[in-house]
Amino acid sequence: LIGAGLLDEALPRVVGSVARELVLVVTNETVARLYPGRIERALAGLPLRVETVVLPDGEQYKTLATLERVFDRLMALEANRKTVLVAFGGGVIGDLTGFAAATFMRGVPFFQVPTTLLAQVDSSVGGKTAVNHRLGKNAIGAFRQPHGVVMELELLATLPERELRAGLFELIKHGIIRDAELFGFLEANQRRFAGRDWGFWEEAVLRSCRVKAAVVEADEREADLRAILNFGHSLGHLVETHTGYARYLHGEAVGVGMLFAAYASCHWGDLPQADFQRIRALLEPLLTPVHMPALDSRRFGTLLMHDKKAAGGSLRFVALRGLGAAFIRERTAPTELWPLFGAFLEDLPGVIGFDESAAAAG
Ligand code: NAD
Ligand code: GLY
Repeated sequence: LIGAGLLDEALPRVVGSVARELVLVVTNETVARLYPGRIERALAGLPLRVETVVLPDGEQYKTLATLERVFDRLMALEANRKTVLVAFGGGVIGDLTGFAAATFMRGVPFFQVPTTLLAQVDSSVGGKTAVNHRLGKNAIGAFRQPHGVVMELELLATLPERELRAGLFELIKHGIIRDAELFGFLEANQRRFAGRDWGFWEEAVLRSCRVKAAVVEADEREADLRAILNFGHSLGHLVETHTGYARYLHGEAVGVGMLFAAYASCHWGDLPQADFQRIRALLEPLLTPVHMPALDSRRFGTLLMHDKKAAGGSLRFVALRGLGAAFIRERTAPTELWPLFGAFLEDLPGVIGFDESAAAAG
């Protein structure tokens, strides 16, 4: 359910159709401070006990240790298999709460009330839930579909501009990979990106969710098609890993990665030049220029091969045949991507820079 001003009507309706006794709202300190008692108020008319657990804010808390706090609270409340969880926060809270719901008492129902644009267009839809392990992001998780997702757009009013843009890249991604009309709609509405015109956001979030839902319905467990949702993630993950996960938001890294993936697709002759220019024109003004440590071909290959999509000596690279038409380019070797990466740096100066100027020459 997507809209501005729908939370108070929609949330009790969907939660009330499932919950019988106890609801546990899982949120973080930031969201709880901005929206104190917001979910509790929305559910106040239902004959339910609504409790809240407030977790610390940050990706570094998306761990088993934090999850334990949710379980501790559930046990203290004498929760049972009928208990319903509500995730109230961004992707971190959504992923963690979803995993709690997948595992507590072997599975309880849960709902998502995503509060970031990224969570609304991406993470709250599709049922991937997880926490991080110290050696791997999202390493411990489960597929668990929420019973419902209530996207209150007005919650985005407090979202910092940088976080909004990070989510916007994932939204644009859905247009690029599967829906040229969505891409055209975004092109035509660029001036609304920075504002809070809820009519625009409602249309954009809805169309983006339709793309993601259709892909997940066709391939929930990522046997094949779902991997196209990782468009831009090969170079994106490289940027995140190489900068220690601290400098750039995931969406920002994916934004740069998408431009590179489009550039490579154009070079391979799969993506028409005109489509590449449209993608470039939409993405480039939104990008946060990346600045990262020096990189040689070996390090480039090693970082790419740590990508989840790597198999054997090569990658399953998500490429484009046209706007709205992504495909998996099997057996793409890092050695094939390295010279393209060099050409990308030259042809699109200002997108990626290095701490040492000789960097990319390896
Ligand atoms: P996040 O949850 O860390 O939220 C970003 C920041 O915004 C946080 O500081 C948060 O407290 C704050 N915030 C949240 N809502 C706010 C609001 N309305 N106003 C002001 N501040 C607000 O990050 P995210 O970008 O939402 O999600 C990233 C996470 O999502 C990652 O852990 C990633 O692995 C995961 N993810 C999962 C999927 C999936 O399919 N399950 C897909 C993409 C990303
Ligand atoms: N965010 C990628 C996926 O849901 O598959």
